[in-house]
Amino acid sequence: MKFPLLGTVVGVLAVEASGTYKPSHDRDKQTLTIPKANTIPLQSAYADTLVAIDNLRRSLPNSPKGYTPSFVDCPSQGPVVRSAASLSSSEAQWLQLRRNKTVGPMRNLLARLDIDGFDAGEYVDRHSNNATALPNIGIAVSGGGWRALMNGAGAVKAFDSRTVNNTGNGKLGGLLQSATYLSGLSGGSWLVGSIYINNFTTIGALQAQTSGSVYEFGNSVVKGPEKSGLQIFNTAEYYADLASDIDGKHDAGFDTSLTDLWGRALSYQLINATRGGPAYTWSSIGISRPFTSGDTPYPIIIADSRAPGEKLISANTTIFEFNPFEMGTWDPTAFGFVPLNHLGTNFTAGRVPANDKCVVGFDNAGYLMGTSSSLFNQFILQLNDTDIPGALRDLLVGFLEDLGSDNNDIADYTPNPFYRYNGETNPGANSTRLTLVDGGEDLQNIPLHPLIQPTRNVDIIFAVDSSADTNYHWPNGTSMVATYERSISNLANGTAFPSVPDVNTFVNLGLNTRPTFFGCNSSNFTDSTVTPPLVVYIPNSPYDAFSNISTFQLSTNDSQRDAIISNGFNVANMANGTRDETWPACVACAILSRSLERTNTAVPQACTQCFNRFCWDGTLNATVPQEYNPTPLYQTVNIESKASRSVPRWVAAAAGAALGYHAL
Ligand SMILES: *[C@@H]1O[C@H](CO)[C@@H](O)[C@H](O)[C@H]1NC(C)=O
Ligand SMILES: *[C@@H]1O[C@H](CO)[C@@H](O)[C@H](O)[C@H]1NC(C)=O
Ligand SMILES: *[C@@H]1O[C@H](CO)[C@@H](O)[C@H](O)[C@H]1NC(C)=O
Ligand SMILES: *[C@@H]1O[C@H](CO)[C@@H](O)[C@H](O)[C@H]1NC(C)=O
Ligand SMILES: *[C@@H]1O[C@H](CO)[C@@H](O)[C@H](O)[C@H]1NC(C)=O
Ligand SMILES: *[C@@H]1O[C@H](CO)[C@@H](O)[C@H](O)[C@H]1NC(C)=O
Ligand SMILES: *[C@@H]1O[C@H](CO)[C@@H](O)[C@H](O)[C@H]1NC(C)=O
Ligand SMILES: *[C@@H]1O[C@H](CO)[C@@H](O)[C@H](O)[C@H]1NC(C)=O
Ligand SMILES: *[C@@H]1O[C@H](CO)[C@@H](O)[C@H](O)[C@H]1NC(C)=O
Ligand SMILES: *[C@@H]1O[C@H](CO)[C@@H](O)[C@H](O)[C@H]1NC(C)=O
Ligand SMILES: *[C@@H]1O[C@H](CO)[C@@H](O)[C@H](O)[C@H]1NC(C)=O
Ligand SMILES: *[C@@H]1O[C@H](CO)[C@@H](O)[C@H](O)[C@H]1NC(C)=O
Repeated sequence: MKFPLLGTVVGVLAVEASGTYKPSHDRDKQTLTIPKANTIPLQSAYADTLVAIDNLRRSLPNSPKGYTPSFVDCPSQGPVVRSAASLSSSEAQWLQLRRNKTVGPMRNLLARLDIDGFDAGEYVDRHSNNATALPNIGIAVSGGGWRALMNGAGAVKAFDSRTVNNTGNGKLGGLLQSATYLSGLSGGSWLVGSIYINNFTTIGALQAQTSGSVYEFGNSVVKGPEKSGLQIFNTAEYYADLASDIDGKHDAGFDTSLTDLWGRALSYQLINATRGGPAYTWSSIGISRPFTSGDTPYPIIIADSRAPGEKLISANTTIFEFNPFEMGTWDPTAFGFVPLNHLGTNFTAGRVPANDKCVVGFDNAGYLMGTSSSLFNQFILQLNDTDIPGALRDLLVGFLEDLGSDNNDIADYTPNPFYRYNGETNPGANSTRLTLVDGGEDLQNIPLHPLIQPTRNVDIIFAVDSSADTNYHWPNGTSMVATYERSISNLANGTAFPSVPDVNTFVNLGLNTRPTFFGCNSSNFTDSTVTPPLVVYIPNSPYDAFSNISTFQLSTNDSQRDAIISNGFNVANMANGTRDETWPACVACAILSRSLERTNTAVPQACTQCFNRFCWDGTLNATVPQEYNPTPLYQTVNIESKASRSVPRWVAAAAGAALGYHAL
């Protein structure tokens, strides 16, 4: 059998379309108001092609032709691919601003978490003129579809000081404001994107939105929204709209794939703008007010590279990251970064050939989120409405013919920006094509990779794991093991990760039922050149809701959505410390741990107790555990099952089998 879903698709698509609908790319502009603002202190190195930089505030629909990339004259200081040997100058410059901005929130948070016998406020004050002495915090949100989006959203909500009543005793509000980095992958990338593309909004605001533009998961992404901003919408118009955008990109000379459709479809749920904001770019985050003023963590999403026909191997897959300034990899393969806003440009050996044009608008925000989650794009093939437009039918059949069933998860980043770049080490150097897939396909389902880069000097990572490793869709540490293994592989390239046990031990010791610290004792790393961050592993587990919905459940009504977000909130703060009253102070100890070492400060007695309590101590128990099937700790919220519809089992199975991947 060639492709398990193909039969459905072709059969369904044989129905003739009832008409096409040509959306106007201009409509978005009406929603764009650019208020006057002060000059933005940080100049993006690549801001040249963008207009009126000092007037911009939120991320922007700044792609001149909407979803279609545009050819423009290259800036005089033409874009180049740079070596990954250091941080970009843009990131380094931004960090100075951000690290200073974290000092106040961190002082507030650490003092409030109240480590017995230790004056954290005084400690922060003492080092406040040298922010690099203070903790450098990262947060990583795993993949796992809508489950991961919602559980991750609960954690972010628990870390956000803007959440109502979240800065009282025992609350973790302010951790987000204290963090330097926030990374997301697949479903986690949807979370990161939905916050940043929408003006660094809050989870509460996303939940409260009722205009149909964001976080309304009752209508699955396959069916499309009932309303798009002000318009009433139907599935046919939705698909016509998607297809027309993809046609536009294709007609401009770019390779398109199912991921283009998928990314556009996702945008309708994640971007608060008419028609899912087809002109919003990821690079516009880098010129948006909340980011340029240093008031947000640095957002990063990731994807894996996989050539068509190649099988993905965890230990040797190049991982690409997208940050507000650049796209590229730290891995000792391509080992380079390209300016994000010029993706789509032809680079040869790191330069744009003389007289060639530059491209802007390729880095569509939805497309990047679609890339990070490309495993899901085969859901688009689940169409069976009678009014599917002809344009879409032609597109889908074309995609399937071009790539074949094994490759329908691929996102095309052709022309390869790393063509002829680092030819000695880069396996893709001779290919004009670059194809990326879902960031979780290498089993590293928590986006730790960008945060363990030695150049970033991260001290502590809050790793929110919503993976569906076990039969009941709970995590079991698989992702932590995968990242550890890669950190001792040929691709490690200077990264280090704490020792973690095998997955059986994770389950037997209950390390997947409550937060656990890894890498507490840095004397365990005296042999290595770098000390890895301390990792606070926060596994999805049931407090007051069954937050283990299937990765392939495509729709949840608002009460189920809110229950899972609320459960995720409890997961992160251990039910406001009621499950373990030492948790809040122990979070403060974990945050401070590496910093205390750096500044030669004695570890408070209370923190030693915390480490005894929350650190994995090296114990192993690798016997095969019983089926892990936990029940909620507290009384569960009653969730109506109305409108919640999952993909039929066979579709989920086919989707997993087609890719040889089931853990996500
Ligand atoms: C950060 O704070 C330090 C100490 O207060 C100050 O010297 C430095 O200029 C600040 N850096 C930025 C980028 O604001
Ligand atoms: C800032 O703190 C770091 C880490 O403790 C230290 O290496 C550095 O020398 C300090 N810089 C200044 C100017 O005190
Ligand atoms: C916030 O706390 C106040 C006082 O305890 C309470 O009355 C209010 O309901 C809380 N609001 C929320 C949204 O939890
Ligand atoms: C973005 O958020 C900030 C802070 O909440 C607000 O002041 C500003 O008006 C928002 N901008 C837009 C364009 O929504
Ligand atoms: C969505 O956009 C509308 C209109 O600009 C705004 O009022 C609302 O606050 C936004 N919601 C979020 C979650 O950003
Ligand atoms: C197509 O049919 C399947 C199986 O009956 C159903 O689960 C799915 O929701 C339908 N898709 C649409 C877009 O209605
Ligand atoms: C990854 O491993 C496979 C199998 O060992 C090998 O064929 C492939 O060339 C390797 N790729 C890289 C980038 O090293
Ligand atoms: C990482 O890889 C690059 C490119 O292969 C190499 O130049 C660099 O020395 C490596 N860094 C470390 C720390 O191994
Ligand atoms: C890149 O090269 C391809 C093939 O030569 C060409 O079709 C395309 O127009 C070029 N793109 C730019 C931006 O010059
Ligand atoms: C790419 O081509 C060059 C020149 O033909 C060759 O030396 C090099 O080994 C090739 N690299 C790879 C990764 O195939
Ligand atoms: C852990 O998850 C992996 C990957 O999903 C699975 O193969 C394995 O059986 C699981 N083991 C336990 C003990 O849950
Ligand atoms: C310390 O390092 C050793 C060797 O890498 C490892 O086996 C052990 O599990 C580590 N202990 C802890 C508590 O991380």
